[in-house]
Amino acid sequence: MTRRTAPFGRRAAAVIAREQHGAYIVIRCADTGGPRPRPGQFYMLTAAERWGGGDGERPFLPRAFSVLRAGPRPDGVELQFLIEDVGPGTRRLTELGAGDELLLVGPLGNGFAPPREGRAPLLVGGGVGIAPLAIWQDELEGNATTLLGFRDQAHAHGAALLAGSSIATDDGSVGHHGLVTELLGDELDARGEEVEVYACGPPAMLEAVRERCSHHDVPAQLALESGMACGFGACFGCVVPTTSGYIRLCVDGPVLDAAMLETAAVAGAGH
Ligand SMILES: Cc1cc2nc3c(=O)[nH]c(=O)nc-3n(C[C@H](O)[C@H](O)[C@H](O)COP(=O)(O)OP(=O)(O)OC[C@H]3O[C@@H](n4cnc5c(N)ncnc54)[C@H](O)[C@@H]3O)c2cc1C
Ligand code: FES
Repeated sequence: MTRRTAPFGRRAAAVIAREQHGAYIVIRCADTGGPRPRPGQFYMLTAAERWGGGDGERPFLPRAFSVLRAGPRPDGVELQFLIEDVGPGTRRLTELGAGDELLLVGPLGNGFAPPREGRAPLLVGGGVGIAPLAIWQDELEGNATTLLGFRDQAHAHGAALLAGSSIATDDGSVGHHGLVTELLGDELDARGEEVEVYACGPPAMLEAVRERCSHHDVPAQLALESGMACGFGACFGCVVPTTSGYIRLCVDGPVLDAAMLETAAVAGAGH
């Protein structure tokens, strides 16, 4: 496993824009002097103001977010984050708009590795787990087949952030009526020996991806989640079990080779 080191310390990043995509909010910010992240890496974010101290003093700790997209700026890099409001931290971040400020630590974690020789990338995303697949699709320059799954039409708006995807929805309002892993099954049946799978989404989806890929003997890189307090290896709050013992997901992940896992349904994880 290769570990990469983020710039030391927390830095401020000005919010440039807030965009709504159905049930999701995209926050774009200017990371002045910050390095360009690798697809699959993440940042620990807090709002510079009104973070903690409210009802129950939550949110208190920073929250982890995959980088959705990154682009050059004259003074650094523009970072984009895809956020779904599921609790006090995400609610506060989705309130931010141009002129507000984020505090960030990152880029953190390992990111995706290129596909093995002779295999084409097959991207599988569920819900807000589509975020790291957008920047990966950008880097792959249109060479990836992409399958995305959402709960309903409001969430399926997120698919517009990626190019040329096949969509599945739980309620059948957009695309295939059913699970994205059913679309994956069809792809693996048709060309399993030609692909490498990259997946991010809820634990049950990731576990179904792991099982299907294992059954077809197809390599898979899974971007997992677990509760993260620091993001850089200090608190051990993010440990997940692998076939060779526990690892800290923030420094040895969040992208893990599926072959390292007996299960991807990690307790406490998931959007
Ligand atoms: C590497 C990584 C990348 C991530 N990328 C993204 C991303 O791109 N976009 C994104 O939106 N999120 C992302 N997340 C997830 C996000 O960091 C978490 O959902 C975060 O905890 C949200 O903070 P919150 O304060 O809004 O909600 P929290 O209070 O932390 O709650 C999060 C979820 O847990 C549930 N929950 C809270 N407390 C309890 C409890 N006591 N018992 C049971 N359930 C509870 C909530 O209902 C909610 O569904 C990522 C996480 C990781 C580790
Ligand atoms: S989040 Fe603290 S060690 Fe991983």
